Amino acid sequence: MTKPFPESLAFTGNNAPSRVEADIFDLEIHGELPRELNGCWYRMTPDPQFPPLHGDDIYLSGDGMISMFRFENGYVDYKSRYVRTERFLAERRARRALFGHYRNAFTDEASVAGLDRTVANTSPIWHGGRLFATKEDGLPYEIDPVSLETKGRYDFDGRLKTLTVSAHPKIDPRTGELLFYGYEASGDGSRDMAFCVADKDGKLISEEWFEAPYAGMVHDFAITEDYAVFPIFPTIVDMDRLKAGGPHWMSDVAQDAWIAVVPRKGGVAGIRWFKRPGGQFFHVINAWNEGETITLDLCVAQMNPFPFIPDVSGMAYDPRLAATLPSRWTLDLGRNDDHVGEGPPVSFVPGDVPRVDDRRIGQTYRQSWMGMVDPTRAMRMSGPVGAGFNMVGRLDMQTGETDAWYGGDDDTFQEPQFIPTGPGELDGYVVSVIEKHAEHRSDVGVFRAGKMADGPVAVIRLPLRLRGAVHGCWTPLHD
Ligand SMILES: [Fe+2]
Repeated sequence: MTKPFPESLAFTGNNAPSRVEADIFDLEIHGELPRELNGCWYRMTPDPQFPPLHGDDIYLSGDGMISMFRFENGYVDYKSRYVRTERFLAERRARRALFGHYRNAFTDEASVAGLDRTVANTSPIWHGGRLFATKEDGLPYEIDPVSLETKGRYDFDGRLKTLTVSAHPKIDPRTGELLFYGYEASGDGSRDMAFCVADKDGKLISEEWFEAPYAGMVHDFAITEDYAVFPIFPTIVDMDRLKAGGPHWMSDVAQDAWIAVVPRKGGVAGIRWFKRPGGQFFHVINAWNEGETITLDLCVAQMNPFPFIPDVSGMAYDPRLAATLPSRWTLDLGRNDDHVGEGPPVSFVPGDVPRVDDRRIGQTYRQSWMGMVDPTRAMRMSGPVGAGFNMVGRLDMQTGETDAWYGGDDDTFQEPQFIPTGPGELDGYVVSVIEKHAEHRSDVGVFRAGKMADGPVAVIRLPLRLRGAVHGCWTPLHD
């Protein structure tokens, strides 16, 4: 490598590139690791292979690194590998970056025109006996679940038409189906959205397209027993800006946010649109429907939380407006209008990267776990926003009560993962990577799901630092 990484937010402190493909056998464990935790916890992390082509870039551009914690009978092994995307391989051959700014192909070197730009760095997805690395700007890459070797780009045997697949598909626990979608489905700047379903074995059984009101970021969606729900917020691409070498996204909170509701039986012919004032969301917590009434829980901010996505109005970044608050909305299909029912937030404790018991997705539920922020306590720089979560906790969506753990002034937390050990929502454990800033190292905390504030019952100690992951998933053991 002939150039150093820049000294900017995305490349320093806990965000410093790791670039380590590791195999660590039998990690050190402090405390008692429950022997009933048997499975694989996969995580995806942006981790740039090379310094950016144009001097600086954002955190989310980093090459995808997939990691696996393998839990078996009280022991844990660790493995991590880069996803060998077309982009990764081309840049490795050149020993430098060839692709330009985040989601702007007009800033690439001419030699890589037509190559796949995605870095597949956002979510690992396990479905139909296959493991995928996903990012919303391209197709998934299939990964070997044991060796973590990249098998190649995945397009459902050539049947998928959309050029993009979101990193937030949903698996319906009742049917085993994978419901997923793509936005900018026919290319950068398009308003086309694709809604797709694969059966429990991974066979694509439907792909239907519809048009969004604008080419907005649609990072996550929700499913219920009868509906798919697409929240479309005004963080919008502009092709003239892209062609001029500018950023893919700018926010425009003066525009409305739209929510598309598509009946799972009947499809896009029955689409209904709901509308509310702009703002920004990234993550759905969960949703369900009772008859024609949908309850949609999501983390909502009044402006885009990413400092690198400014508002077109020039409004200053305000951490209070950028805080994502867990919120509950109601969409009533029985009404003949586009009204979104909203009350006060479920909690005024800012939180994001929410997870629930996967067995309750699309159904009534009560518990969620997420990274949380106590703004009165120490904040450390980590991840894409510029401040890490200083707590990891449980939010009771019924009462709004928070059960959270603050580790210490040097600790921040990554997305929690619920691991069930019994039938109930609190019957299990929650794991979360603890970023130990002072030690430049990471731990994994293992918490009782219903007693987060008690702190971890076991700590898995790593001899290295894990750069902030985006999302993870828990699967059975594979051999
Ligand atoms: Fe996400």
